Amino acid sequence: MEYRRLGRAGLKVSALSFGSWVTYGNQLDESAALNLMAAARDQGVNFFDNAEVYANGKSELLMGAALKKLGWDRLTYVVTTKFFWGLPAKFGDGVNEKNTLNRKYLLQAIDASLARLQLDYVDIAYCHRPDPNTPLEETVFAMHDMVARGKASYWGTSEWSAADIMGAWHIADKHHLHKPIVEQPEYNLFHRKKVEREYARLYAEIGLGTTIWSPLASGLLTGKYAKGVPADSRGSLKNMAWMHESLLDPAKNAIVANLGVLAQDIGCTTAQLAIAWCLKNPNVSTVITGASRVEQVAENMKALAIVPKLTSDVMARIAAIFQEVHE
Ligand SMILES: NC(=O)c1ccc[n+]([C@@H]2O[C@H](COP(=O)([O-])OP(=O)(O)OC[C@H]3O[C@@H](n4cnc5c(N)ncnc54)[C@H](OP(=O)(O)O)[C@@H]3O)[C@@H](O)[C@H]2O)c1
Repeated sequence: MEYRRLGRAGLKVSALSFGSWVTYGNQLDESAALNLMAAARDQGVNFFDNAEVYANGKSELLMGAALKKLGWDRLTYVVTTKFFWGLPAKFGDGVNEKNTLNRKYLLQAIDASLARLQLDYVDIAYCHRPDPNTPLEETVFAMHDMVARGKASYWGTSEWSAADIMGAWHIADKHHLHKPIVEQPEYNLFHRKKVEREYARLYAEIGLGTTIWSPLASGLLTGKYAKGVPADSRGSLKNMAWMHESLLDPAKNAIVANLGVLAQDIGCTTAQLAIAWCLKNPNVSTVITGASRVEQVAENMKALAIVPKLTSDVMARIAAIFQEVHE
């Protein structure tokens, strides 16, 4: 495994990490969840990603139970969680507990997450989306307090605009508060603009790290959706039907088939090539992988060994395959 600094922070994260979205609580029970984390850890993964909203809190419960059983030294792994959407409302329509980054919500949400995870602190707490209805200053002060109270070691954002990240950073700087150190954006061969263009200045100017998600575009970049939705895939889940338009897009699947030919040429799988391409970007601190079975973890972790094969010639072939189809 390779370990990269999380932007300018001192924290080092495995270049490949592991996340629980969709899988934990929807596809996997506690023992399967534990097995996948153990398989990832065996390959050197030290970063495990979660969010309170995943399976309505169940994902944190499963990860917490698995961590307890695994008994790893707390110093040796990083756990993250994220706040914004909230859980099913406890009162009325959840006026202060859904779709918000207000101070009241954030400071109680972290306690609830820590209880589900059975941890004293998370390593990174993310604001899962921007909240246009809460002043940036209020959110920055609340995230600072979460860190100052020892409930999170660092804080960051997910899918924020560069302007909002910069705004939050300057508020923190002005008031000597803990600054956001990391952004968690989608990044894969079909989705590149934010990481490559919008955030470009932030890497040098504020030392932003990135923990990127959906490197396989939910499985599309493995080639498994070429002939329809496989029975045991993410796409077969009822609550994921909204993804079919993208997963089954004939044009996208034709492009993935071409990527598959290139992968064969250089001696790897389509998934490994797609993940290696993300790893090649030096502004990516960690590529958060997802998996529903141990074999996928084994396959995906080998992507690190493929990176040296991404010569300028291979990168040019990838660019030609994807041309302008990416967002
Ligand atoms: N911040 C955010 O807003 C946000 C959003 C999304 C995700 N995330 C984080 O990023 C993590 C990764 O995202 P993701 O799960 O969407 O990643 P992904 O790599 O795009 O998709 C992972 C899924 O693809 C399939 N897969 C993986 N490896 C495979 C292989 N080698 N062969 C065939 N199929 C394979 C598996 O699903 P099936 O086997 O079920 O088909 C797996 O669950 C999440 O767990 C979460 O922690 C964050």
